[in-house]
Amino acid sequence: MLKLAFLARSVLFSIPDLHHKDLTTVLNFQNFTPYRRELDNGFVLTSIANPEDIERLVEFNGTSFGPGEASMTRALITHHPSSRPDYWLILKDQDRIIASVVLIPWEWRYEETVLKCGEMGIVSTAAAYRNRGLMRVLDARFKELLHKDGFHLSPIQGIPYFYRQFDYEYALPLEAQWRIELWQIPAPADTAIMFRKATVEDIPMLQQLHAVASQRQNISTIRSAEIWRYLLEHSPGTGTEADTWLLERNQQIIAYCRIHKEGFGEGLIVSEASRLDHQTADSLLAWLKSVAIERGKPYIRFNLPVMSDLLTLARAYGAVDGGGYQWQIHVVDPARLLRQIGPVLERRLVGSPFATLTQSVVINLYRNAVALSFEQGQLRSVEALNRPTDSPINLPPNLLAPLVLGFRSRSELAEGYPDARIYGSACALIDTLFPPMQAFLDTIY
Ligand SMILES: CC(C)(COP(=O)(O)OP(=O)(O)OC[C@H]1O[C@@H](n2cnc3c(N)ncnc32)[C@H](O)[C@@H]1OP(=O)(O)O)[C@@H](O)C(=O)NCCC(=O)NCCS
Repeated sequence: MLKLAFLARSVLFSIPDLHHKDLTTVLNFQNFTPYRRELDNGFVLTSIANPEDIERLVEFNGTSFGPGEASMTRALITHHPSSRPDYWLILKDQDRIIASVVLIPWEWRYEETVLKCGEMGIVSTAAAYRNRGLMRVLDARFKELLHKDGFHLSPIQGIPYFYRQFDYEYALPLEAQWRIELWQIPAPADTAIMFRKATVEDIPMLQQLHAVASQRQNISTIRSAEIWRYLLEHSPGTGTEADTWLLERNQQIIAYCRIHKEGFGEGLIVSEASRLDHQTADSLLAWLKSVAIERGKPYIRFNLPVMSDLLTLARAYGAVDGGGYQWQIHVVDPARLLRQIGPVLERRLVGSPFATLTQSVVINLYRNAVALSFEQGQLRSVEALNRPTDSPINLPPNLLAPLVLGFRSRSELAEGYPDARIYGSACALIDTLFPPMQAFLDTIY
């Protein structure tokens, strides 16, 4: 049956005037030569090469994590607009998959620039093969892909500590844990608001509402229409399933929110909400309370940015911060990253005491360094230096991500890490180039 489905898709792909919707659902192995490397220990490192590999991988991830991840693996491979066969890496012992990882491409908006990010996802090694260096093998190929395809960052929503060994550092907020008890939410203020589930016809409006809400963040997810389509049509049934609800007044869409089916904790998880006026936020809160009661959820958890209008109101009613986790992030190539955000760096110098900066600013990363050449406040070049270089700016390489992403300030880093050593006027320059930032990443799957 599945083979037939694949055959049907590859036939579809040969028709030139396909509607774009169909193209995003086509998995095309033809444009990708599967990667393959025989290892000394007899195992083989490959990328998925055929429908049989997909079935084996779905089963493997199901065994490692559960049915939600099994269906997520299938949906991502066959329907996600940014999925590519060569980004699904597997290690095989004969025909059996023994370890796997996927590179999931995202685009993040960093102020007025775009960063290409390759998430490391669905990482696992079969229990009998653990602690034999298989993740190290997969990570090496994963890093090759990141370099080859020009990625700036690699994020992971990973288990504690493990990924430090692969040069990842905690550097952005993840899984916010704001919690409100149901009794703290008052009765609805505006009963004229209607709620309905969004459909693909609503995508243009959803994109608009999402973009407006994202503008409040310095760093946010870019959500194309294709990604919205994936969320609405293909994430149902997977471990990351969420319902997208529209709020309408007088039959006009005024806002949306997303509620996750599963996730950390017992509460009803609200993982997205567009801009809301006070009255609408009040009505949404009251409606969420009724949904929580209906679903037997004891409280509501907001996985939302701290500036969210819904969360602001919930906090006024007593929502409390239960902590949260953090994205771990690897900088693929420091010079490439700094070059990409060059326009932002130049803008930050405007109106500062460094507006006419004309010098080479070297960031010494201990094992190597990067030199930013400024002329009258314009960034002329960013050069990677393959050796440590004397500079008043010294940073352990893993701390570049939290600094550049505005997650930790220069002074916070210096306080926590004696090897983050920045001297004299360079302190003021680094504070100007890398100020604290608001960031929140809405999912793409
Ligand atoms: C975590 C996991 C992927 C590691 O895979 P693995 O193939 O055993 O990893 P490796 O053997 O390549 O280990 C690399 C290094 O990490 C160490 N390591 C292994 N598991 C570790 C763990 N859970 N925490 C910290 N270090 C660990 C190894 O000792 C090794 O160190 P070394 O190279 O200095 O000797 C595997 O244990 C697993 O699948 N766990 C269950 C699923 C899971 O938690 N996945 C991660 C989801 S984010």
